[in-house]
Amino acid sequence: MKNVLVTGGTGLLGKEVVDQLLSIKYGVTVLSSKKNATVPAGVQLIKGDLASNRGLEEATRDADIIVHCASNPKDTQSVDIKGTQNLLNAIDRDKTLHFVYISIINVDKSNYAYYQTKIRVEQMIAASGIPFSVLRTTQFHNYVLSILKTFDKKNGTLAIPDGMHFQSIEVKEAATLLVDLAQREPVGLVRGVGGPELLKFEEMAKTYLHVLSRKDELKVRPLQSEEYDRYRSENNIWPTNSYGRVTWEAFLRHDLAS
Ligand SMILES: NC(=O)c1ccc[n+]([C@@H]2O[C@H](COP(=O)([O-])OP(=O)(O)OC[C@H]3O[C@@H](n4cnc5c(N)ncnc54)[C@H](OP(=O)(O)O)[C@@H]3O)[C@@H](O)[C@H]2O)c1
Repeated sequence: MKNVLVTGGTGLLGKEVVDQLLSIKYGVTVLSSKKNATVPAGVQLIKGDLASNRGLEEATRDADIIVHCASNPKDTQSVDIKGTQNLLNAIDRDKTLHFVYISIINVDKSNYAYYQTKIRVEQMIAASGIPFSVLRTTQFHNYVLSILKTFDKKNGTLAIPDGMHFQSIEVKEAATLLVDLAQREPVGLVRGVGGPELLKFEEMAKTYLHVLSRKDELKVRPLQSEEYDRYRSENNIWPTNSYGRVTWEAFLRHDLAS
């Protein structure tokens, strides 16, 4: 049986990775910095911290494979950069034969600070000499929903920025791609992957209101921000490689009902 350490195994993506690894009968260890983290039955939980370099030797000790999903966009210097270096330093190179990392498409084409962090982490992994695979995907549906909700004041009008688009992917399907990679030989940087549909944000907002059976007026405005511009550019889509069956509408019908 292969043993896999999943960092970020308590997070949105990591939880799905853990469930899918269990379903193929891999041994799973999760590293968590939370005091009261819970993991599914059969999973070994190691309390530790990437940033403060706690518990990493214990967490990596039996790992044939590491799937690195941990990240903290609010503290990238400590968690993503220093934390990944701590993790790489802790690895027993005779034991761990594959390091799998989740990144974001086109991180190399943007000056956005979080993307600069992702590219730096990719480079650290490549320079470590540990055999690796890096998967770059588009945004998850949940992430787009969280953006949409920031505009939803529930006052009868939903006003959103104009010109944005997404090719978001269901997190379970992104997890499937990562777990598939983890089972294979290391391949380095994998071709990018986008979700099944390329949609205007306006269409996504209409579907959101429709699924919620709301009659709010939808207003599209020329709002300015670097973030909106990022989602107006070609950098958040990957039309040449779309993957997955879970459409935006199917995701909303499931997520908003639960
Ligand atoms: N969201 C998207 O649309 C998207 C798209 C493409 C790629 N990605 C990438 O996918 C990855 C996972 O994203 P997500 O949305 O699943 O994130 P998430 O739900 O915020 O989970 C982040 C995880 O990081 C762990 N973590 C944070 N600080 C830590 C520390 N100091 N030590 C150990 N673990 C720590 C957390 O575990 P504890 O709190 O238990 O410590 C948590 O499980 C990220 O690398 C992200 O860049 C995300």
